[in-house]
Amino acid sequence: MSKKIAVFSSKPYDEEQLQKALSDDALQFTFFEPKLTWQTVALAKGFDGVCCFVNDVVDADVVKALADYGIKIIAMRCAGFNNIDLNACSAHEIALARVPEYSPCAVAEHAVALILDLNRNIHRAFSRVRENDYSLNGLMGFSLHGKTVAVIGGGKIGIAFIKIMKGFGCRVLCFDPKPSDELKSMDIEIVELGSIWEQSDIISLHCPLVKQTYHLINSNSLSQMKDGVMLINTSRGALIDTPAVIAALKTGRVGYLGLDVYEEEADLFFEDNSNEVLQDDIFARLTTFKNVVITGHQAFFTEEALKAIAETTVTNLSSFFSGDLDAVNFVNKY
Ligand code: NAI
Repeated sequence: MSKKIAVFSSKPYDEEQLQKALSDDALQFTFFEPKLTWQTVALAKGFDGVCCFVNDVVDADVVKALADYGIKIIAMRCAGFNNIDLNACSAHEIALARVPEYSPCAVAEHAVALILDLNRNIHRAFSRVRENDYSLNGLMGFSLHGKTVAVIGGGKIGIAFIKIMKGFGCRVLCFDPKPSDELKSMDIEIVELGSIWEQSDIISLHCPLVKQTYHLINSNSLSQMKDGVMLINTSRGALIDTPAVIAALKTGRVGYLGLDVYEEEADLFFEDNSNEVLQDDIFARLTTFKNVVITGHQAFFTEEALKAIAETTVTNLSSFFSGDLDAVNFVNKY
C-alpha cells in the first residue's frame, strides 16, 4: 500500500517536480500550500510522513502532535534543518532526513550574481534605462580582479564559490573550523575570523546557522571591517544582526549588501504580499538603500536543483519505508 506523505509549504513547482520524481506507487503525495506550524499541524493527521521546507516551524509542540498522528519521518526538501527541534524528534522517535547536496553551484552562482549586480550597479542601471536615463553618475563600479574575497564556511557551496572567485583573479581568504582536505588543497588562505574582518573587500557567508554563527555579523565584527566592505549572505538570515548592518550602511562602513536570506523572512518570503502593507520596519529600511540588493531566498531556485531536491526526497522517503535505511540521508534516525 502506498505511504501517504503530506507536503507542506508546497508551491506548483514543488508539486510538478515531486510528482515527476515518483517512479512507482510506493508514495502518494498530498500537497498543502500552508507552512507546517502549530496552526496547520492537524493537516498531517492520517499521513505516514511529512515533507517540509526552510520556513516550516517544526518546534517541540509540532513534533509531539506529529508523533500523536503516527508520523514516522520528516523529509526536508533542503539541506538546512535549523527550523526543526531535533531533541523532540529523537524523544518522539521521528526520523529526520534532508537533501544534503543538490546544487552547490546554484547557490554559489547566485552569491556571485549579487556581487556583480552590486559592484556594477546593474539594478540601478536597469531602472535608469527604462526611464530613458543613460547618465552614468553614481554607477561607478570596481574591478574584482586582485580584490580580497572572504568565504566564511568552506563546505560544498563555499568551495563552488571559491572556484568562481579564483576565476575572477581574486585573493581568497576562508574561515572554517573544520576545513576539509579539498579546501586545504585549494590555492587560498585559511585564516581566523579576525583576519577576515580586517583584510576583506568582500565577505560571503556560506556557513550553517548554529549557536556559534548566530549574529556573526554584528556591531563588533562590523567595527573591525574595512570601510565600504561588501557583505553577501545567501546562507541563513540570522547570521546577520540586521539593525547593526543598517547602522553600518548609514555610516558607509558597509558599502554594499547582497541578501538572499533575512532573519525574519518566514513572514515575508515565498509569498506574493504585494497587496499588503509591509509591517517589518527593519526590512523596510533595508529596501531604501541604493547599495542593498535583496532576493527572496531564491539562490537554490534552478531547474537542476529542484529536480535533484525532488529525486533525493523521493529516495529518502521510499527507502525509509522500504527499510533500505542506508539509502536515506538521515539527520538522525531518531
Ligand atoms: P556544508 O555542510 O557543505 O558546509 C558548511 C561549512 O560550514 C562546513 O565546511 C563547516 O565546517 C562550516 N562551518 C561549520 N560551523 C562553522 C562556523 N562556526 N564558522 C564557519 N564555518 C562553519 O553546507 P553547504 O551545502 O555548503 O551549505 C551552506 C549553507 O548554505 C547551509 O547551511 C544553508 O544555510 C545555506 N543554503 C542556502 C540556500 C539558499 O537557497 N539561499 C540553499 C542551500 C543552502
